Parts: sequence; C-alpha cells; structure tokens
Amino acid sequence: MGVLLIPRLTLTLTIISLFIFLSRSSSQEILINNAERRIDLSTHIVKVFLTLKFHPTNCVWINMYVELMSFFQVENIGTNAVSEILLAFPPTQADHLAFVEALATTGKRKKKTYVPLVVKPTELPDAPNETKYFSISLVNPLNSGDTTTLEVLYVFTHSLEPFPMEISQSESQLVYYRDSALILSPYHIKQQTTFIKTPTTKVESFTRLDPTNRAGTEMKYGPYEDQPPYSYSPIIVHCENNNPFAVVEELVREVEISHWGSIQITEHYKLVHAGARHKGIFSRVEYQSRPSFSGVSSFKHLLARLPPRVHSVYYRDEIGNISSSHLRTDSQKSDLEIEPRYPLFGGWKATFIIGYGVPLQDFLFESPDGRRYLNFTFGCPLAESVVDKLTIKVVLPEGSKDPSAAVTFPVEQHLETKYSYLDVVGRTVVVLEKKNVVPMHNTVFQVYYTFNPIFMLAEPLMLTSVFFLFFVACVAYLHIDLSIRKGF
Ligand SMILES: *[C@@H]1O[C@H](CO)[C@@H](O)[C@H](O)[C@H]1NC(C)=O
Ligand SMILES: *[C@@H]1O[C@H](CO)[C@@H](O)[C@H](O)[C@H]1NC(C)=O
Ligand SMILES: *[C@@H]1O[C@H](CO)[C@@H](O)[C@H](O)[C@H]1NC(C)=O
Repeated sequence: MGVLLIPRLTLTLTIISLFIFLSRSSSQEILINNAERRIDLSTHIVKVFLTLKFHPTNCVWINMYVELMSFFQVENIGTNAVSEILLAFPPTQADHLAFVEALATTGKRKKKTYVPLVVKPTELPDAPNETKYFSISLVNPLNSGDTTTLEVLYVFTHSLEPFPMEISQSESQLVYYRDSALILSPYHIKQQTTFIKTPTTKVESFTRLDPTNRAGTEMKYGPYEDQPPYSYSPIIVHCENNNPFAVVEELVREVEISHWGSIQITEHYKLVHAGARHKGIFSRVEYQSRPSFSGVSSFKHLLARLPPRVHSVYYRDEIGNISSSHLRTDSQKSDLEIEPRYPLFGGWKATFIIGYGVPLQDFLFESPDGRRYLNFTFGCPLAESVVDKLTIKVVLPEGSKDPSAAVTFPVEQHLETKYSYLDVVGRTVVVLEKKNVVPMHNTVFQVYYTFNPIFMLAEPLMLTSVFFLFFVACVAYLHIDLSIRKGF
C-alpha cells in the first residue's frame, strides 16, 4: 500500500505545484515577437498605432497543461491564459486615454482581413506602479506554437503640454510630449521599435536612448531587443505644433424628433483654444497682413460636418446671428465652415450655437418588432476636436414609451421630461453623457421607443379646442361689451 501511495502523492503534489506555477505565470506564457508603435503628434489628439506579433512561449508547459486539462477538465484557467492579451498603461497616460480599439489581422499584405476584438478595462491584483490594464479578448484562443498579429489604436487627449506656457502673437507654439521609449507591457518583447511623427521638422529637443534617429518629421527609437516585462524608459519630445487645439469644454446636442416630418438639432458649444496662452496685446492689423507669421497657432475657421440634406441651418452666439458661415452640401455630407467673431488664441473662449433640421425619413426607422428608432451619429460634428463633456439629449415625441438607447461604447444614461408649449404630459428625453470624446466616437447610435399614432392627433385636437375656446371667449367678450354699452 505504502509503496503505491508515495508515487501517487508525488504526482498529486507535482500537479498541484504545476497549477500554482501556471496560474501565477500566465503572462509569462506569452511572448511578443515584434512590436511596432507609431505615435502621431501631428494634431492635438495623440494617436498611437501599435502592431504586436506574438505567440505563446513555454510551449512545453502549455503542452503539459493541455494534457492536464483534458485529464482534470479545468478549461477555464487554461483558455484564460491565452485568450486574453493585456495592454498596459502608466496611470498618467490612462487618465488621458479616450479610445482603444483592437483588431486581429490575418493573411498577408494584400489579402489582409481585420476582425474587431472586444477591449475592456481590467484590473490585476499585483499591478506594479499602479499600472492600468485593458484586456483584449481573442476570437479563437491561441494554441501553443500559434502566432497572431494584433493591431491596436489608442488615442490620448490633453497629452501635449505647451511649453513655453505663454506665447505672443508672433511666436509659434511648442509642446512637450512624454512617453516611454520602451513599450510598457506585462510580456517579454523580443524586438520593438517606436516611431514618433512630429507636425513639422522643428524639434527643439528629444531624449535619446540609442539607437535613436531622426529624419524629417520622423523619430525612430529602436530596434530594442529582448526587453523584460514592465521595461520603461521615460522620454520627452519638445516640438513645434501649431495645429488648432480646439477643445469643446462642454457640448450639449439636443435632437428633437417631430413625427410631422423633421428632426431639429440644436448644439450648444463652449469652445476653448487649449494651446499656449496668448500674452501681450492682439493686433488685428498684423494678424491680417502677415497671416503666415502672426498668430500661427490661433484659429479662425472651424469645420462642422453635418448630415446631407440639412435645412434651416443657423449659427449664432449671445449677440445674435453670425453671418460668416458657408455651407457646402453634397449627397454624402454637408460641410459648414464657421468663423467665430474673432480669431481664437491660446486660452480664449467662444460660446455659440449651431442649429439645423434634417428630414425625418433619413434618421427615423421602424424596427422589425414594430418599435421606432432614431439612428444618429454620436460625437461632435467639429473636425479634429476634443469634447471634455458631451451630452446628447434625444427628445422623443409626446406619448412615446419604453425608450432605450444602444451605443457601442459605455455612456451614462438617464431620462428627463421636457415641456414645450402645447405639451400635456411632457416629452421623454433620453440623455446620454460621455467624457473625453474624440472623432473616433463619431459612430452611429440608436434610440428605440414605442409610439401610439393616436398621439399625433393630440396637438391638432388641442389647437382646434384652443381656437374654439378663443372663439367662445370672443363671442362672450363682444356680448359683455355690448351689454355695457347698452347701460350708457
Ligand atoms: C516603479 O517606479 C519606480 C520609480 O518611478 C521605478 O524605479 C521602478 O522601476 C518601477 N517599477 C516597475 C516594475 O516599473
Ligand atoms: C438669424 O438667422 C435665422 C436663419 O437664417 C433667421 O431665421 C433669423 O431671423 C435671424 N435672426 C436675426 C436676429 O437676424
Ligand atoms: C444606421 O445608419 C448607418 C448609416 O448611416 C447604417 O450603416 C446602419 O446600418 C444604420 N443602423 C441601423 C440599426 O439601422
């Protein structure tokens, strides 16, 4: 008996220790063969394109594990190890992260196909230095020896720090960008290269971590070989960036549906130039006579991309209508070029309203289950702008019931009631709120609701009764009037 027990015990112990080892070292099972990162600093929205080519290492362990799996049938732990890939961000960057998108690519150059993957924020219990994580779920779990390529796009806002913080009208704007020359990752990276694209060739300074090269508007960090997990090497790039730092501190878009044929959109903007603050006096003469030297970082035009077939477009502020706007429309879109009353310099603000109507049939549909739904674009119509706080209010027709919104990314939602003249029970308003919105969020969303057509009669009936009452009142007035005159 004892002779049989000992090998069994050791086998059990080995299996248990194997489990402990495997569950603790799940990130060690993945190796990034090659990572290429392209950081685009050409606007004020920092875009990072990351390509990762990786496969699980420690194939022996994985093979053994797979065998153990079939033996013990503990599938979850097994698939977890290689069906989720982690992206890591230092906490300072995580705060400014506005958007993350991951695609799995298959096939070679010309026949490349992209499969969008689910990306979710996640937490690890022993994250070093408060690292923040996002997990990418692979469609097919990666088996031992398989390789796959992921393409990740992530976007940072408010990550270019103007330095000097104040500039005069004749100076150009310089900014700092901070990052790491090495990609922060929980995995071992065999080879990696980072390219940084600057807006112009004017680069004041940049940190070197050899090999580092610069040519034209591109800087190249690497290739760096064999970097262990959580390698980090801070860098600072100080370069010129005169692009409009258009930040909408607050945008409220109200979309009012009327079943009488139109959707009316009213957008309230609080815009600020978030670049280096303007110092000294503003000379309009100099600004207009030497546009390529004076106020190069300011902006005087903004482009709002509106849906095709817009009508009754207006653009006004608290003073009144602003006539300096141009509308160009084609079958795909309408471009509204607006010009605030004065050019915007660093730190200057402008508050204005854009309003327009669109045909109901372009955006309101009936779903197969009989509900109606609005299919509209999320985000901000202003090109290349960041919205710190966006609120979209969809005002449903009076009498609508069971509203629900479908947005492809997390947003805060609640309901309100709005009363306008002629309303009896008020209109349900679906309110969607999101912070840190970038142009990548300009995707469609839907608001579903049920509506009983009998409510369409409510307003005409009310108008008729109002006229009737008015008529009765007039008659009564005339009657009283007459009776008074009789008295004299
Ligand atoms: C954490 O931060 C400290 C100080 O910034 C640094 O020395 C250390 O290497 C970091 N540790 C990891 C695992 O990144
Ligand atoms: C402003 O423009 C709108 C649309 O063009 C027009 O209907 C309205 O009368 C104008 N208001 C003023 C005060 O000019
Ligand atoms: C919403 O509209 C877009 C085009 O504007 C279209 O591609 C999409 O299929 C529509 N979604 C629904 C649910 O109708």
